[in-house]
Amino acid sequence: MGRLTGPAGPALRPVTLAGGLRAWAATDAAVSRAVLTDPRLTNDVSEVGRPVQGFPVRRYPEDFFAHAPQLLSASGDRHRRMRRIVAPFFTAAAAAGTAARLRCEAAQIIRCLADRDRVDIVADLALPLAAATVGEVLGIPPERRRTAVTAALAASASAPGTEAARSAHRAFSRTVLQAISGARRSPTPTAATAVLHANRAGELTSAEMAGLLGMLLIGTVDSLATVIPAGTLLAMRRPDVGRGLSQGPGNGSSCSAAHTRALTEEILRLNPPFQHTGWRFTREPCRIAGISLPQGTVVVASLLSANLDPAVWPDPLRADPHRRAPSGHLSFGHGPHYCLGAALGRQLVHDALVGLFSRLPRLSLAAPADELTWHGACLRRMDRLPVDTHASAPTG
Ligand code: HEM
Repeated sequence: MGRLTGPAGPALRPVTLAGGLRAWAATDAAVSRAVLTDPRLTNDVSEVGRPVQGFPVRRYPEDFFAHAPQLLSASGDRHRRMRRIVAPFFTAAAAAGTAARLRCEAAQIIRCLADRDRVDIVADLALPLAAATVGEVLGIPPERRRTAVTAALAASASAPGTEAARSAHRAFSRTVLQAISGARRSPTPTAATAVLHANRAGELTSAEMAGLLGMLLIGTVDSLATVIPAGTLLAMRRPDVGRGLSQGPGNGSSCSAAHTRALTEEILRLNPPFQHTGWRFTREPCRIAGISLPQGTVVVASLLSANLDPAVWPDPLRADPHRRAPSGHLSFGHGPHYCLGAALGRQLVHDALVGLFSRLPRLSLAAPADELTWHGACLRRMDRLPVDTHASAPTG
């Protein structure tokens, strides 16, 4: 899909997604919210009752998720049943506990960055932090975490239908199977052990167990690997944002936690790691935003475009922590599929960026911005983000 960077034009418009899938994208905040809660739409293509552009056997049989139903491909009772099994691990209180356990690892990673003059925020911060997080969330042991991160990123980044995609999805399947066998031996309860017990109790099929774990792995890794570098870049380019993060909280300054949280929300609004939601399908012919859509039409919400809706966020490209509803963006989605890891993701992004800029307030970009390479369609991720850790003056 071409970048939909703002909702100028129709609120629902035709787009071509990665792999050539034709869809309609909601592009403003109101229509996006409406689409994501519309009962005439389903995430489960088998509920449409007729073939949709090569579904229900997904167009790419090598795709791990073609065989493993997961939260984003389920609707209604099945979705609620699957989500209930892991939800207790992602409540606000559980997320606070997980984030507190990860804070030490994050501080250690950032301390190591401070010892070097030049580092890569992707390889040296975002990926190690994503690895530590999958350790906490799924109980993956330290020696397997980097492989799990690499497998998750490769599976979501490979172009559909290619040999690279086939081999990436095979590696991803192996990683998920290892997570399941690791859960069998885990001494502590994690989302993975809960999924395993539910399978043993007959509440989840084995395919659902694999899909659920695969989704937790991808959800954690891809979001953090994308948004931490993007947030760092934004904070380096907008000195007020970098300064705000570097001044607190808990840094002996008057800067409040509310302020750094509001800055984090603006960073998330301007950098949604998932540019658009997963697919929804119309169960019946319906009219949305004045457009008639036949049964079986694919619909997504463009989260980036919705987040730049000037009717909700005046001067939308400005990172302004004083907005009235800074957390009302759509970066975590909306409705029944609202991100399960939102509380955790918010806290981890906040802690990583505050930790980074507090420790290294003079962080600056070590390459021309136009030489940074981004890839991916739904996930738009930087390959690397080289920075100087102790530049003589903050960059403008
Ligand atoms: C900054 C971090 C994150 C962002 C911006 C984010 C974003 C999103 C979005 C937009 C969706 C909805 C997709 C749709 O409706 O089609 C979603 C769903 C989901 N996310 Fe996240 N995510 C983040 C972190 C995480 C983490 C840390 C986890 C780990 C558990 C996670 C797990 C999930 C799961 C399991 C779903 C599916 C929920 C469902 O269908 O019921 N996410 N996420």
